[in-house]
Order: sequence, then C-alpha cells, then structure tokens
Amino acid sequence: MNSKPRLLTGLQSSGDLHIGNYFGALKPFVDTYEKYDSFLMVADYHALTSLKDAEVLRENVKNAVRDYLAVGVDPEKAVIFRQSDLSEHTELAWVFDCLVSVPFLQQAHAYKDKVAKGLEANAGLFTYPMLMAADILLYDTDVVPVGEDQRQHIEYAREAAAKFNHVYGQTFKEPKEMILKGVGVVPGTDGQKMSKSYGNTIPLFGSKDDISKAVMSIVTDSSGEHPEHVYAIHSLFKPKEELDTIYGINRGNYKMLKEMLIEDIEGVLSPMREARESITDDEVARVLSGGAEKARAVASAKMEVVRHAVGVR
Ligand code: ADP
Ligand code: TRP
Repeated sequence: MNSKPRLLTGLQSSGDLHIGNYFGALKPFVDTYEKYDSFLMVADYHALTSLKDAEVLRENVKNAVRDYLAVGVDPEKAVIFRQSDLSEHTELAWVFDCLVSVPFLQQAHAYKDKVAKGLEANAGLFTYPMLMAADILLYDTDVVPVGEDQRQHIEYAREAAAKFNHVYGQTFKEPKEMILKGVGVVPGTDGQKMSKSYGNTIPLFGSKDDISKAVMSIVTDSSGEHPEHVYAIHSLFKPKEELDTIYGINRGNYKMLKEMLIEDIEGVLSPMREARESITDDEVARVLSGGAEKARAVASAKMEVVRHAVGVR
C-alpha cells in the first residue's frame, strides 16, 4: 500500500522547450515528484482540440516523454502514460458532460478566449475541462501541479467531483492545485519574459551552436556598463557570489562574460541533451506500455464503480 499522497499532471508537448520552461516548470517538478505517488500523463486527446496532423501528434507524444525522461523523471518512480491508452478517460468525461451545464462550461478560459477572439471553438474545446477532470479524478488525485494558467481547470475538476458526489453518492476525491514555485520569471535574450512567442529563447535541448547564437544575441549596450541581461540568465547557472566576482573582474568585457555563460549553460544542459539523444523510440514505447498497465489498474477499478453508480451496469 502506497501511503504517499497522489500527484497527477498532464503534459502537452509544446514544441521545443527553452530554459524558461526548465527553470519555471520542469525542474521544480523533477525536484518534487518523488515525494508523491506520481502519475504523468501525456494529454494526446486534449491536443486533438487544436492539432489535426496525425504524424505531428505522434511525434509530439514521443517528444513529451523524451523531454521528461531527459530532465530526470525516472519511469520506475513515476507512472508515465498516454491518455488515449485508457478509454476510461473519455468515458468518464462523457459522464461529467452529462452532469455540468452549458453556462458553466462557457465560463472556462480556453473556450471563452477563443470565442472572444471571434474564432469558432470546436465542441472538444468546449468540454475540454471535463476531460481534464476525468484525467484527475479517475486516480483519486490529491495534488495537481500546473502553471497558473491551469488553475481554473482544477476548480472545474473539483466542481465535477462535488456534483457527481452530490447526485450519485461519495465517489471522488476533490483535488488541489499545486502551483510549483520555479525561479520566478526567466528573462529572455532581450530582457522580457522568455517565451517561444517572443523569439527570445535559449533552447533547452539545442546544440552548443544554438546556445552560443542565443547567448551572443543577448542585448547589451555599447557603453560596456550594462550586462544585466547576461547576468540575469547567468544567475540561473552559477551562485551569486561567484558571479559577482566574475562580473567585477570582467567589467565591460561582454564577449568574455558571454563566453563564460555559454560554458556554464553547456555544463548544465549537455548531459540532458545527451540523455535525450540516447532515448530510442523503443524505449519510449516501453515506458508508455508499462505506464498504461499501471494506470489501468487504478482507472479501470474506479470506472467500474462509476458505471455502477450511474446505472449503466
Ligand atoms: P511559452 O511562453 O514559451 O509559450 P509555455 O506557456 O508553453 O511557454 O510554458 C509552459 C510552462 O513553462 C509554464 O507553465 C510556465 O510555468 C513555464 N514558463 C514558460 N516561460 C517561462 C519563463 N520565462 N519563466 C519561468 N517559467 C516559464
Ligand atoms: N490542460 C493541461 C495543459 O494545457 C494539460 C492537462 C490535461 C492536464 N489533463 C491534465 C494537467 C490533468 C493536469 C492534470 O497544460
């Protein structure tokens, strides 16, 4: 019997990760997941709400697994699985869809934002929070680590649990969100928040060449007095005391400071990059099939209880 609280989170591959993602989300996750009975799910059915390219979806799933293995998640210590491997998720989502109201779902951000932009939302995007509720509630999850943008979806999951429990009797545990404390906002090469949409990133799994190019493009002024943006990124890789000495000695020498930064970044990122490159498709497939088996043991038992509670069995 596992006495640790249960943790579950969902991953959507968002393409090439950058060091903002690493220090803001991945690293804090890697530092905490072993304190929990952890489940890591690749949300491929959620991806279908916006992605219509089968080959890209297949690649994204593999990449998401590779990313997490490479940054240090041990598949023996966390259950890594794919949402679509367990039909219980979409099945339970339907049950929740039949419990919640249209006006309630209309308040969900993902849907609301799309409509506010004058775009047409598909029905999958509309019911997205109920699939996410199913992901979480099937496993009697205690905590759900997510970014701030997902907080509302956890409220929706609690609401779905409460509604079900009210109508059919106590069945689901109400989960709590866990907003991981990263290092705060990681600045990009221009000093703004690092974000793939701003083109100011340092890639997490890029080659040394990619890293060098990004570092060399960090904005500095011509007076030689303002290495702030270089320093800010450097402080993620070296203790402050050491940095202050280095920046004192090399005052004004941006080239030297940037070269040191490149070496320090390489020291941290190259082992992860090499780990990632050595992960084969077979290994990813093995991780996912082992994960599906462990996840199924929990989800199928829970779904059996649900089927009885609602009367389809
Ligand atoms: P992007 O802004 O590049 O599109 P995402 O929105 O996909 O990044 O971010 C995924 C997660 O990575 C977020 O939940 C957030 O916690 C973290 N993250 C992204 N950018 C940064 C940053 N610059 N500093 C700290 N954390 C970040
Ligand atoms: N919607 C989440 C995101 O976009 C991904 C996700 C799907 C998720 N199912 C989940 C997160 C369950 C936590 C728990 O990031």
